[in-house]
Amino acid sequence: MTMRSSDVLVLGSGIAGLSAALGAARNGAEVTIATKATRPEGASTWWAQGGIAVARKKPEQFQRDIIAASSDTSDPDAVATLVRHADAAVRDVLIDTLGIGFDTGGNGASFDYGREAAHSTDRILHVDASTGKHIHVPFLNYLADHERVEIRDDTAALDLLQDNGAVTGARLESGGRATDWAANAIIVATGGIGALYGQSTNPRGATGDGIAMATRAGAAVDDLEYVQFHPTVCVESGDPFLISEAVRGEGALLRNATGDRFMPAYHEDAELAPRDVVARAVDRERQKTGRVVLDVSPLDFASTFPDLMALCEENGVDPSTGIPVVPAEHFLCGGIDVDTRGRTSLDRLYAVGECARTGVHGANRLASTSLLEGLVWGLRAGETSVGESPVRPTAEGRKREVGSLSVDVEAGFTRVRDAMDTHVSLRRSAEGLHAAAATIREVKAEIESDVSAPMPRPASELRSACTVGLGIAEAALANEQSVGCHYRTDASAEAPAAANG
Ligand code: SIN
Repeated sequence: MTMRSSDVLVLGSGIAGLSAALGAARNGAEVTIATKATRPEGASTWWAQGGIAVARKKPEQFQRDIIAASSDTSDPDAVATLVRHADAAVRDVLIDTLGIGFDTGGNGASFDYGREAAHSTDRILHVDASTGKHIHVPFLNYLADHERVEIRDDTAALDLLQDNGAVTGARLESGGRATDWAANAIIVATGGIGALYGQSTNPRGATGDGIAMATRAGAAVDDLEYVQFHPTVCVESGDPFLISEAVRGEGALLRNATGDRFMPAYHEDAELAPRDVVARAVDRERQKTGRVVLDVSPLDFASTFPDLMALCEENGVDPSTGIPVVPAEHFLCGGIDVDTRGRTSLDRLYAVGECARTGVHGANRLASTSLLEGLVWGLRAGETSVGESPVRPTAEGRKREVGSLSVDVEAGFTRVRDAMDTHVSLRRSAEGLHAAAATIREVKAEIESDVSAPMPRPASELRSACTVGLGIAEAALANEQSVGCHYRTDASAEAPAAANG
Protein backbone atom coordinates (compact mmCIF):
# COMPACT_ATOMS: atom_id res chain seq x y z
CA MET A 1 0.00 0.00 0.00
CA THR A 2 1.37 3.42 -0.88
CA MET A 3 1.96 6.03 1.72
CA ARG A 4 -0.27 9.10 1.67
CA SER A 5 1.72 12.18 0.78
CA SER A 6 1.66 15.80 -0.38
CA ASP A 7 4.36 18.35 -1.20
CA VAL A 8 3.59 20.35 1.92
CA LEU A 9 1.72 19.19 5.01
CA VAL A 10 0.32 21.96 7.23
CA LEU A 11 -0.79 20.99 10.74
CA GLY A 12 -3.42 23.45 11.97
CA SER A 13 -5.96 25.79 10.42
CA GLY A 14 -5.69 29.20 12.09
CA ILE A 15 -4.48 32.24 10.19
CA ALA A 16 -0.85 31.04 10.31
CA GLY A 17 -1.59 27.60 8.87
CA LEU A 18 -3.93 28.99 6.22
CA SER A 19 -1.35 31.62 5.21
CA ALA A 20 1.33 28.93 5.00
CA ALA A 21 -0.93 26.83 2.79
CA LEU A 22 -1.64 29.84 0.59
CA GLY A 23 2.05 30.73 0.32
CA ALA A 24 2.93 27.18 -0.71
CA ALA A 25 -0.02 26.67 -3.08
CA ARG A 26 0.61 29.97 -4.84
CA ASN A 27 4.10 28.69 -5.56
CA GLY A 28 2.88 25.48 -7.13
CA ALA A 29 2.84 23.02 -4.22
CA GLU A 30 0.13 20.45 -3.53
CA VAL A 31 -0.82 21.18 0.07
CA THR A 32 -2.67 19.17 2.69
CA ILE A 33 -3.99 20.93 5.78
CA ALA A 34 -4.66 18.54 8.66
CA THR A 35 -6.63 20.14 11.48
CA LYS A 36 -8.30 18.89 14.65
CA ALA A 37 -10.98 21.55 14.18
CA THR A 38 -14.37 20.49 12.89
CA ARG A 39 -15.75 24.01 12.80
CA PRO A 40 -14.12 27.43 12.34
CA GLU A 41 -14.49 27.98 16.11
CA GLY A 42 -11.87 25.27 16.66
CA ALA A 43 -9.10 27.71 15.74
CA SER A 44 -8.03 30.55 18.06
CA THR A 45 -8.09 32.91 15.07
CA TRP A 46 -11.89 32.71 15.02
CA TRP A 47 -11.95 34.11 18.58
CA ALA A 48 -9.62 37.06 17.96
CA GLN A 49 -11.37 40.31 18.70
CA GLY A 50 -9.29 43.49 18.58
CA GLY A 51 -7.78 43.30 15.12
CA ILE A 52 -4.60 43.27 13.11
CA ALA A 53 -2.01 46.00 13.54
CA VAL A 54 -0.29 47.55 10.52
CA ALA A 55 2.65 49.93 10.18
CA ARG A 56 0.85 52.70 8.24
CA LYS A 57 4.10 53.79 6.61
CA LYS A 58 5.75 54.26 10.02
CA PRO A 59 7.58 50.95 10.54
CA GLU A 60 10.12 52.42 12.99
CA GLN A 61 7.38 53.63 15.33
CA PHE A 62 5.60 50.26 15.17
CA GLN A 63 8.90 48.50 15.79
CA ARG A 64 9.59 50.69 18.84
CA ASP A 65 6.16 49.90 20.34
CA ILE A 66 6.61 46.13 19.92
CA ILE A 67 10.04 46.23 21.53
CA ALA A 68 8.92 48.51 24.38
CA ALA A 69 5.91 46.26 25.18
CA SER A 70 8.33 43.32 25.38
CA SER A 71 10.52 45.17 27.92
CA ASP A 72 13.31 45.22 25.31
CA THR A 73 13.40 41.45 24.97
CA SER A 74 12.13 41.11 21.37
CA ASP A 75 14.56 40.12 18.65
CA PRO A 76 15.01 43.32 16.57
CA ASP A 77 15.58 41.38 13.32
CA ALA A 78 12.34 39.47 13.76
CA VAL A 79 10.45 42.65 14.61
CA ALA A 80 11.94 44.39 11.56
CA THR A 81 10.79 41.49 9.38
CA LEU A 82 7.27 41.73 10.77
CA VAL A 83 6.83 45.47 10.34
CA ARG A 84 8.53 45.53 6.91
CA HIS A 85 6.06 42.99 5.50
CA ALA A 86 2.97 43.94 7.52
CA ASP A 87 1.14 46.35 5.25
CA ALA A 88 1.87 44.50 2.00
CA ALA A 89 0.75 41.13 3.43
CA VAL A 90 -2.48 42.59 4.81
CA ARG A 91 -3.20 44.35 1.50
CA ASP A 92 -2.33 41.31 -0.62
CA VAL A 93 -4.05 38.51 1.32
CA LEU A 94 -6.73 40.04 3.49
CA ILE A 95 -7.94 42.91 1.33
CA ASP A 96 -7.17 42.02 -2.31
CA THR A 97 -7.45 38.20 -2.14
CA LEU A 98 -10.09 37.64 0.54
CA GLY A 99 -11.92 40.97 0.30
CA ILE A 100 -12.16 41.48 4.08
CA GLY A 101 -14.19 44.63 4.71
CA PHE A 102 -12.31 46.25 7.56
CA ASP A 103 -14.27 49.01 9.27
CA THR A 104 -13.94 52.40 7.65
CA GLY A 105 -13.98 55.82 9.21
CA GLY A 106 -17.51 56.60 8.11
CA ASN A 107 -17.32 57.96 4.60
CA GLY A 108 -15.77 54.72 3.33
CA ALA A 109 -12.62 56.48 2.20
CA SER A 110 -10.25 55.53 4.98
CA PHE A 111 -9.95 52.72 7.50
CA ASP A 112 -11.07 53.24 11.07
CA TYR A 113 -7.73 52.45 12.71
CA GLY A 114 -8.18 51.41 16.35
CA ARG A 115 -5.92 51.81 19.38
CA GLU A 116 -5.02 49.24 22.03
CA ALA A 117 -2.72 49.12 25.04
CA ALA A 118 0.93 50.12 24.53
CA HIS A 119 0.39 51.31 20.93
CA SER A 120 1.61 54.90 20.50
CA THR A 121 -0.79 55.56 17.62
CA ASP A 122 -4.04 54.32 16.04
CA ARG A 123 -3.01 51.47 13.73
CA ILE A 124 -5.32 48.50 14.23
CA LEU A 125 -7.52 47.33 11.38
CA HIS A 126 -10.64 45.64 12.66
CA VAL A 127 -14.14 44.48 11.88
CA ASP A 128 -16.15 45.61 14.86
CA ALA A 129 -14.51 43.72 17.76
CA SER A 130 -14.79 40.30 16.14
CA THR A 131 -12.05 40.63 13.56
CA GLY A 132 -10.91 37.01 13.82
CA LYS A 133 -14.06 35.37 12.55
CA HIS A 134 -14.36 37.93 9.73
CA ILE A 135 -10.92 36.87 8.53
CA HIS A 136 -11.05 33.18 9.35
CA VAL A 137 -14.25 32.12 7.63
CA PRO A 138 -13.49 33.72 4.22
CA PHE A 139 -9.93 32.39 4.40
CA LEU A 140 -11.14 28.82 5.04
CA ASN A 141 -13.70 29.12 2.23
CA TYR A 142 -11.10 30.46 -0.18
CA LEU A 143 -8.72 27.56 0.46
CA ALA A 144 -11.51 24.98 0.44
CA ASP A 145 -12.05 25.98 -3.21
CA HIS A 146 -8.34 26.08 -4.07
CA GLU A 147 -7.35 23.40 -6.57
CA ARG A 148 -4.01 22.68 -4.91
CA VAL A 149 -5.22 22.62 -1.28
CA GLU A 150 -6.97 19.82 0.55
CA ILE A 151 -8.37 20.45 4.03
CA ARG A 152 -8.77 17.37 6.24
CA ASP A 153 -10.71 18.35 9.34
CA ASP A 154 -11.18 16.33 12.53
CA THR A 155 -7.63 15.10 11.88
CA ALA A 156 -5.06 15.27 14.66
CA ALA A 157 -1.30 14.98 14.34
CA LEU A 158 0.02 12.47 16.90
CA ASP A 159 3.71 12.57 16.07
CA LEU A 160 6.28 13.74 13.57
CA LEU A 161 8.00 11.13 11.38
CA GLN A 162 11.76 11.38 11.01
CA ASP A 163 14.42 10.02 8.72
CA ASN A 164 18.05 10.66 9.70
CA GLY A 165 16.94 13.58 11.85
CA ALA A 166 14.96 15.32 9.10
CA VAL A 167 11.20 15.50 9.54
CA THR A 168 9.58 13.68 6.64
CA GLY A 169 5.94 13.53 7.64
CA ALA A 170 3.47 13.16 10.45
CA ARG A 171 1.31 10.43 11.93
CA LEU A 172 -2.27 11.64 11.55
CA GLU A 173 -5.33 10.31 13.34
CA SER A 174 -8.91 10.60 12.23
CA GLY A 175 -11.92 8.58 13.37
CA GLY A 176 -9.72 6.43 15.61
CA ARG A 177 -7.41 5.33 12.78
CA ALA A 178 -3.83 6.49 12.29
CA THR A 179 -2.12 7.07 8.93
CA ASP A 180 1.48 8.02 8.24
CA TRP A 181 1.62 11.00 5.88
CA ALA A 182 4.81 11.97 4.05
CA ALA A 183 5.66 15.48 2.83
CA ASN A 184 8.68 17.39 1.55
CA ALA A 185 8.00 20.01 4.20
CA ILE A 186 5.91 19.94 7.37
CA ILE A 187 4.59 23.24 8.72
CA VAL A 188 3.41 23.12 12.32
CA ALA A 189 0.67 25.70 13.00
CA THR A 190 -1.16 24.09 15.88
CA GLY A 191 -1.70 27.24 17.96
CA GLY A 192 -1.54 27.74 21.69
CA ILE A 193 -1.87 26.11 25.06
CA GLY A 194 -5.12 27.37 26.59
CA ALA A 195 -6.19 23.87 27.66
CA LEU A 196 -3.33 23.82 30.19
CA TYR A 197 -5.11 26.44 32.30
CA GLY A 198 -8.50 26.56 33.99
CA GLN A 199 -9.48 29.79 32.25
CA SER A 200 -8.34 30.77 28.81
CA THR A 201 -9.49 32.70 25.78
CA ASN A 202 -8.41 29.79 23.51
CA PRO A 203 -10.63 26.97 22.28
CA ARG A 204 -10.32 23.83 24.43
CA GLY A 205 -8.44 21.99 21.66
CA ALA A 206 -5.41 24.21 22.27
CA THR A 207 -3.36 21.48 23.95
CA GLY A 208 0.09 22.46 22.68
CA ASP A 209 0.35 19.47 20.31
CA GLY A 210 2.77 21.05 17.83
CA ILE A 211 5.22 22.23 20.47
CA ALA A 212 5.09 18.82 22.14
CA MET A 213 5.67 16.90 18.88
CA ALA A 214 8.53 19.20 17.91
CA THR A 215 10.07 18.83 21.38
CA ARG A 216 9.94 15.04 21.14
CA ALA A 217 11.53 15.19 17.69
CA GLY A 218 14.42 17.24 19.12
CA ALA A 219 13.59 20.72 17.76
CA ALA A 220 14.81 23.73 19.74
CA VAL A 221 12.14 25.56 21.76
CA ASP A 222 12.58 28.85 23.57
CA ASP A 223 10.87 31.49 25.75
CA LEU A 224 8.28 29.01 27.04
CA GLU A 225 8.01 30.82 30.37
CA TYR A 226 6.36 33.81 28.67
CA VAL A 227 2.68 32.94 28.96
CA GLN A 228 0.54 36.00 28.40
CA PHE A 229 -2.63 36.52 30.43
CA HIS A 230 -5.31 38.84 29.11
CA PRO A 231 -6.48 41.22 31.86
CA THR A 232 -10.13 41.51 30.90
CA VAL A 233 -11.93 38.20 30.49
CA CYS A 234 -15.52 37.92 31.67
CA VAL A 235 -16.26 34.70 33.54
CA GLU A 236 -19.59 35.62 35.04
CA SER A 237 -21.49 32.70 33.57
CA GLY A 238 -20.80 29.90 31.10
CA ASP A 239 -17.56 29.89 29.13
CA PRO A 240 -15.12 32.75 29.68
CA PHE A 241 -15.25 35.41 26.98
CA LEU A 242 -12.80 38.13 26.09
CA ILE A 243 -13.55 41.82 26.43
CA SER A 244 -11.18 43.28 23.90
CA GLU A 245 -8.45 45.71 24.84
CA ALA A 246 -10.03 47.91 22.18
CA VAL A 247 -12.71 48.73 24.77
CA ARG A 248 -10.06 50.26 27.03
CA GLY A 249 -8.62 51.88 23.92
CA GLU A 250 -11.98 53.67 23.57
CA GLY A 251 -11.88 54.90 27.17
CA ALA A 252 -13.26 52.15 29.45
CA LEU A 253 -11.86 52.21 33.00
CA LEU A 254 -10.98 49.48 35.49
CA ARG A 255 -12.52 49.80 38.94
CA ASN A 256 -12.22 47.65 42.05
CA ALA A 257 -15.03 46.54 44.37
CA THR A 258 -15.04 49.89 46.16
CA GLY A 259 -15.51 51.70 42.86
CA ASP A 260 -11.97 53.14 42.76
CA ARG A 261 -10.10 53.47 39.49
CA PHE A 262 -6.78 51.82 40.38
CA MET A 263 -4.65 51.60 37.22
CA PRO A 264 -3.07 55.10 37.50
CA ALA A 265 -1.41 53.91 40.72
CA TYR A 266 0.21 50.98 38.88
CA HIS A 267 1.45 52.58 35.66
CA GLU A 268 1.61 56.01 34.02
CA ASP A 269 -0.33 54.67 31.03
CA ALA A 270 -3.07 53.47 33.38
CA GLU A 271 -5.58 51.20 31.56
CA LEU A 272 -3.38 51.26 28.45
CA ALA A 273 -0.25 49.99 30.22
CA PRO A 274 1.42 46.84 28.84
CA ARG A 275 -0.81 43.82 29.18
CA ASP A 276 1.26 42.03 31.82
CA VAL A 277 1.13 45.08 34.11
CA VAL A 278 -2.65 45.40 33.77
CA ALA A 279 -3.19 41.64 34.28
CA ARG A 280 -1.22 41.60 37.56
CA ALA A 281 -2.94 44.78 38.76
CA VAL A 282 -6.40 43.33 38.09
CA ASP A 283 -5.40 40.18 39.94
CA ARG A 284 -4.03 42.16 42.88
CA GLU A 285 -7.14 44.35 43.17
CA ARG A 286 -9.38 41.28 43.04
CA GLN A 287 -7.37 39.77 45.88
CA LYS A 288 -7.57 43.02 47.89
CA THR A 289 -11.19 44.00 47.25
CA GLY A 290 -12.90 40.91 45.85
CA ARG A 291 -13.95 42.13 42.41
CA VAL A 292 -12.86 44.17 39.40
CA VAL A 293 -15.16 45.55 36.73
CA LEU A 294 -14.65 47.27 33.43
CA ASP A 295 -16.60 50.51 33.59
CA VAL A 296 -17.82 51.21 30.05
CA SER A 297 -19.80 54.35 30.95
CA PRO A 298 -17.20 56.71 29.36
CA LEU A 299 -18.14 55.35 25.92
CA ASP A 300 -21.26 54.40 24.03
CA PHE A 301 -20.55 50.69 24.45
CA ALA A 302 -23.60 49.32 22.65
CA SER A 303 -23.07 51.28 19.47
CA THR A 304 -19.25 51.16 19.45
CA PHE A 305 -19.07 47.39 20.17
CA PRO A 306 -22.40 45.86 19.14
CA ASP A 307 -21.00 42.33 18.97
CA LEU A 308 -19.53 42.57 22.48
CA MET A 309 -22.83 43.99 23.69
CA ALA A 310 -24.57 40.95 22.19
CA LEU A 311 -22.02 38.62 23.83
CA CYS A 312 -22.68 40.24 27.22
CA GLU A 313 -26.43 39.89 26.75
CA GLU A 314 -26.11 36.23 25.74
CA ASN A 315 -24.19 35.63 28.97
CA GLY A 316 -26.55 37.61 31.20
CA VAL A 317 -24.09 40.44 31.85
CA ASP A 318 -25.39 44.00 32.05
CA PRO A 319 -22.53 46.28 30.91
CA SER A 320 -24.19 49.36 32.40
CA THR A 321 -23.36 48.07 35.88
CA GLY A 322 -19.73 47.28 34.92
CA ILE A 323 -18.43 44.11 33.27
CA PRO A 324 -16.81 41.78 35.84
CA VAL A 325 -13.36 40.75 34.61
CA VAL A 326 -10.46 38.47 35.57
CA PRO A 327 -7.10 37.78 33.92
CA ALA A 328 -7.07 34.53 31.91
CA GLU A 329 -4.48 32.70 29.85
CA HIS A 330 -4.40 34.18 26.36
CA PHE A 331 -1.20 33.63 24.36
CA LEU A 332 2.14 31.82 24.54
CA CYS A 333 4.92 34.20 23.44
CA GLY A 334 7.52 31.44 23.17
CA GLY A 335 7.43 28.12 21.36
CA ILE A 336 9.31 26.29 18.63
CA ASP A 337 12.37 28.32 17.70
CA VAL A 338 12.23 29.57 14.10
CA ASP A 339 14.10 31.96 11.84
CA THR A 340 12.52 34.76 9.82
CA ARG A 341 11.25 32.20 7.29
CA GLY A 342 9.71 29.87 9.85
CA ARG A 343 12.48 27.25 9.60
CA THR A 344 13.03 25.28 12.82
CA SER A 345 16.28 23.65 13.93
CA LEU A 346 15.22 20.39 12.18
CA ASP A 347 15.44 19.88 8.43
CA ARG A 348 12.13 20.16 6.56
CA LEU A 349 10.26 21.24 9.70
CA TYR A 350 8.69 24.72 9.87
CA ALA A 351 6.58 26.35 12.56
CA VAL A 352 4.32 29.40 12.35
CA GLY A 353 1.78 31.21 14.49
CA GLU A 354 1.37 30.84 18.24
CA CYS A 355 3.26 27.54 18.45
CA ALA A 356 6.36 29.25 17.00
CA ARG A 357 8.85 31.45 18.75
CA THR A 358 9.85 33.99 16.10
CA GLY A 359 11.39 36.42 18.61
CA VAL A 360 8.84 39.14 17.79
CA HIS A 361 7.15 39.07 21.18
CA GLY A 362 10.00 38.46 23.58
CA ALA A 363 8.63 38.43 27.11
CA ASN A 364 5.33 40.15 26.34
CA ARG A 365 3.32 40.51 23.15
CA LEU A 366 1.92 43.84 21.95
CA ALA A 367 -1.83 43.68 21.31
CA SER A 368 -3.09 42.81 17.81
CA THR A 369 0.25 41.51 16.57
CA SER A 370 -0.60 37.79 16.68
CA LEU A 371 -2.83 37.66 13.58
CA LEU A 372 -0.19 39.72 11.81
CA GLU A 373 2.66 37.44 12.86
CA GLY A 374 0.68 34.40 11.73
CA LEU A 375 -0.03 36.01 8.36
CA VAL A 376 3.51 37.22 7.66
CA TRP A 377 5.37 34.12 8.92
CA GLY A 378 2.78 31.81 7.41
CA LEU A 379 3.24 33.27 3.94
CA ARG A 380 7.02 33.29 4.25
CA ALA A 381 7.23 29.71 5.54
CA GLY A 382 4.80 28.49 2.88
CA GLU A 383 6.79 30.11 0.08
CA THR A 384 10.09 28.79 1.44
CA SER A 385 8.84 25.25 2.03
CA VAL A 386 8.21 24.77 -1.68
CA GLY A 387 11.98 24.66 -2.21
CA GLU A 388 12.43 21.45 -0.17
CA SER A 389 13.59 18.47 -2.24
CA PRO A 390 11.21 15.49 -2.66
CA VAL A 391 11.24 12.95 0.17
CA ARG A 392 11.26 9.22 -0.47
CA PRO A 393 8.59 7.88 1.88
CA THR A 394 9.93 4.98 3.89
CA ALA A 395 7.12 4.33 6.30
CA GLU A 396 4.02 2.30 5.53
CA GLY A 397 0.93 4.32 4.71
CA ARG A 398 -1.58 1.75 5.84
CA LYS A 399 -4.20 2.76 8.37
CA ARG A 400 -4.01 1.34 11.86
CA GLU A 401 -6.46 1.40 14.73
CA VAL A 402 -5.23 3.56 17.60
CA GLY A 403 -4.73 1.93 20.99
CA SER A 404 -7.47 1.80 23.60
CA LEU A 405 -7.80 4.46 26.25
CA SER A 406 -6.95 3.05 29.66
CA VAL A 407 -6.16 6.15 31.70
CA ASP A 408 -8.50 8.81 33.05
CA VAL A 409 -7.60 11.67 30.72
CA GLU A 410 -10.00 14.17 32.32
CA ALA A 411 -8.50 13.53 35.75
CA GLY A 412 -5.03 13.98 34.26
CA PHE A 413 -6.01 17.31 32.69
CA THR A 414 -7.50 18.45 36.01
CA ARG A 415 -4.20 17.76 37.78
CA VAL A 416 -2.20 19.56 35.09
CA ARG A 417 -4.54 22.59 35.12
CA ASP A 418 -4.54 22.80 38.92
CA ALA A 419 -0.74 22.75 38.93
CA MET A 420 -0.49 25.38 36.18
CA ASP A 421 -3.17 27.66 37.71
CA THR A 422 -1.66 27.47 41.17
CA HIS A 423 2.04 27.68 40.40
CA VAL A 424 2.71 28.63 36.75
CA SER A 425 0.40 31.57 36.38
CA LEU A 426 0.71 35.34 36.96
CA ARG A 427 3.12 34.95 39.89
CA ARG A 428 5.71 32.21 40.25
CA SER A 429 8.27 31.04 42.77
CA ALA A 430 10.90 28.32 42.70
CA GLU A 431 9.02 26.32 45.34
CA GLY A 432 5.74 26.42 43.42
CA LEU A 433 7.38 25.71 40.08
CA HIS A 434 9.11 22.63 41.50
CA ALA A 435 5.76 21.41 42.87
CA ALA A 436 4.02 21.95 39.52
CA ALA A 437 6.80 20.20 37.62
CA ALA A 438 6.63 17.21 39.99
CA THR A 439 2.86 16.84 39.50
CA ILE A 440 3.06 17.14 35.73
CA ARG A 441 5.92 14.61 35.60
CA GLU A 442 3.71 12.12 37.44
CA VAL A 443 0.80 12.60 35.03
CA LYS A 444 3.18 12.35 32.07
CA ALA A 445 4.68 9.12 33.35
CA GLU A 446 1.21 7.62 33.79
CA ILE A 447 0.06 8.53 30.31
CA GLU A 448 3.26 7.39 28.65
CA SER A 449 3.34 4.03 30.42
CA ASP A 450 -0.27 3.12 30.00
CA VAL A 451 -1.18 3.32 26.33
CA SER A 452 -0.09 1.48 23.25
CA ALA A 453 0.99 3.28 20.09
CA PRO A 454 -0.56 4.89 18.15
CA MET A 455 -2.10 6.81 21.05
CA PRO A 456 -5.78 7.64 20.98
CA ARG A 457 -6.30 11.38 20.51
CA PRO A 458 -7.35 12.27 24.09
CA ALA A 459 -4.27 10.53 25.51
CA SER A 460 -2.06 12.21 22.95
CA GLU A 461 -3.52 15.61 23.90
CA LEU A 462 -2.83 14.98 27.58
CA ARG A 463 0.71 13.91 26.73
CA SER A 464 1.12 17.18 24.77
CA ALA A 465 -0.22 19.21 27.69
CA CYS A 466 2.25 17.47 30.04
CA THR A 467 5.23 17.99 27.73
CA VAL A 468 4.47 21.67 27.24
CA GLY A 469 3.41 22.32 30.83
CA LEU A 470 6.65 20.79 32.03
CA GLY A 471 8.57 22.85 29.46
CA ILE A 472 6.95 26.03 30.76
CA ALA A 473 7.59 25.18 34.42
CA GLU A 474 11.23 24.29 33.73
CA ALA A 475 11.82 27.44 31.65
CA ALA A 476 10.19 29.52 34.40
CA LEU A 477 12.47 27.89 36.99
CA ALA A 478 15.56 28.58 34.91
CA ASN A 479 14.68 32.27 34.48
CA GLU A 480 15.11 33.82 37.90
CA GLN A 481 14.41 37.38 36.82
CA SER A 482 10.97 38.92 36.45
CA VAL A 483 10.41 40.30 33.00
CA GLY A 484 7.26 40.88 30.95
CA CYS A 485 4.66 38.22 31.65
CA HIS A 486 7.11 36.09 33.65
CA TYR A 487 6.89 37.37 37.22
CA ARG A 488 8.93 35.71 39.96
CA THR A 489 7.87 36.61 43.48
CA ASP A 490 11.29 35.39 44.63
CA ALA A 491 13.28 37.34 42.01
CA SER A 492 16.43 39.10 43.14
CA ALA A 493 16.08 41.87 40.56
CA GLU A 494 13.09 43.06 38.60
CA ALA A 495 12.89 44.63 35.17
CA PRO A 496 10.94 47.94 35.15
CA ALA A 497 7.83 46.55 33.45
CA ALA A 498 7.55 43.91 36.17
CA ALA A 499 7.16 46.49 38.93
CA ASN A 500 3.95 46.92 40.91
CA GLY A 501 3.26 43.22 40.84
C1 SIN B 1 -7.92 41.92 22.37
O1 SIN B 1 -8.79 42.17 21.53
O2 SIN B 1 -7.85 42.48 23.45
C2 SIN B 1 -6.92 40.86 22.08
C3 SIN B 1 -5.97 41.33 21.06
C4 SIN B 1 -4.73 40.52 21.11
O3 SIN B 1 -4.57 39.65 21.93
O4 SIN B 1 -3.85 40.81 20.30
